[in-house]
Amino acid sequence: MNRAFIIGIAGQDGSYLAESLLEKGYEVSGIIRRNSIVEHQRNRVSHLKDVKMEYGDLNDPSSLDRALRLYRPTEIYNLGAQSHVRISFDVPQFTVQVNALGVLNILEAYRQVVPEARFYQASSSEMFGNSVDDDLFQRATTPMNPISPYGCAKVFGYHIVKLYRSSYGLHASNGILFNHESPRRGSNFVTNKVVKTAVQIKLKKTNILELGNLDSQRDWGHSWDYVRAMHLILQQEKPDDWVVSTGETRSVRQLCEYVFRRLDLNYEDYVVQNPKYLRPNELDYLRGDSSRIRKELGWKPKYTFESMMDEMIEYWITYFENNVEE
Ligand code: GDD
Repeated sequence: MNRAFIIGIAGQDGSYLAESLLEKGYEVSGIIRRNSIVEHQRNRVSHLKDVKMEYGDLNDPSSLDRALRLYRPTEIYNLGAQSHVRISFDVPQFTVQVNALGVLNILEAYRQVVPEARFYQASSSEMFGNSVDDDLFQRATTPMNPISPYGCAKVFGYHIVKLYRSSYGLHASNGILFNHESPRRGSNFVTNKVVKTAVQIKLKKTNILELGNLDSQRDWGHSWDYVRAMHLILQQEKPDDWVVSTGETRSVRQLCEYVFRRLDLNYEDYVVQNPKYLRPNELDYLRGDSSRIRKELGWKPKYTFESMMDEMIEYWITYFENNVEE
């Protein structure tokens, strides 16, 4: 019996991964953090009745140890993080504790309790900072020069996974995932913020969208496609590090243009810049080379940028049509 343990199961990726593994016949368990608003803890996974969840935290090693002893997973996915790059400048120490030392905590528990299991670490394209190869792509060999507390912490996580792999012979792999979105994305990330607010503008609930840097460029894929890559990575005989991306890049401005146009609106009439959303340091450009995972593992995304944004637009239209007040 395959048993998956997902840290960050209540997040965007964790919820899609749990769904996909249940479909494959896995037993799925995970930890959730305590939150003062109880509904916020489980709303992405409340439809998944077969998932087993315990309270736990990447910063509480005993909770990790206990959960691994209880569920004895064959696959461990570490998707838990303080995942917002701008917020990592506001809470740098917390970000480092969770995104760096938290990885060490889970690796130690894994090594002690279930060393025969396989381990996936959610590494990030934010680790590259503003490094890019001459052909304007980032890949696993591109130098990592992180420019946010989030990115610095993720670089530590990436390297400690490689170190535990080579030192202890663990089946531990990194997925270097570029930005990935969906209707389940938190609405303080730029894609879902743009879509949600544009739909509110269309429905005359508001008339302004305040953003930060419109010129930064990202390689945006769909979380549903990317969790399939995570699973594929753990099915390989040898652990390794893989880039997962679409290979396309677009600016925040192009994102706004597309979404507003789909709603028969002109983004220039509504979008304004608010310095509040600018970052102390900005990563300008991301475009990932995922040719290796496509060739060697046969991974291929199902969604295009357009079909992903259309799904998100549909989601918010339905949400507001069902008379949910915001
Ligand atoms: N969030 C946000 N809000 N971003 C804005 C805004 C705004 O109002 N206005 C412009 N942006 C720009 C940001 O400055 C950034 O250049 C870009 O939109 C994308 O921002 P986010 O959606 O917050 O994502 P991110 O690229 O910083 O980080 C995401 O991707 C990483 C992988 O590269 C997160 O998912 C990270 O957890 C992930 O590791």
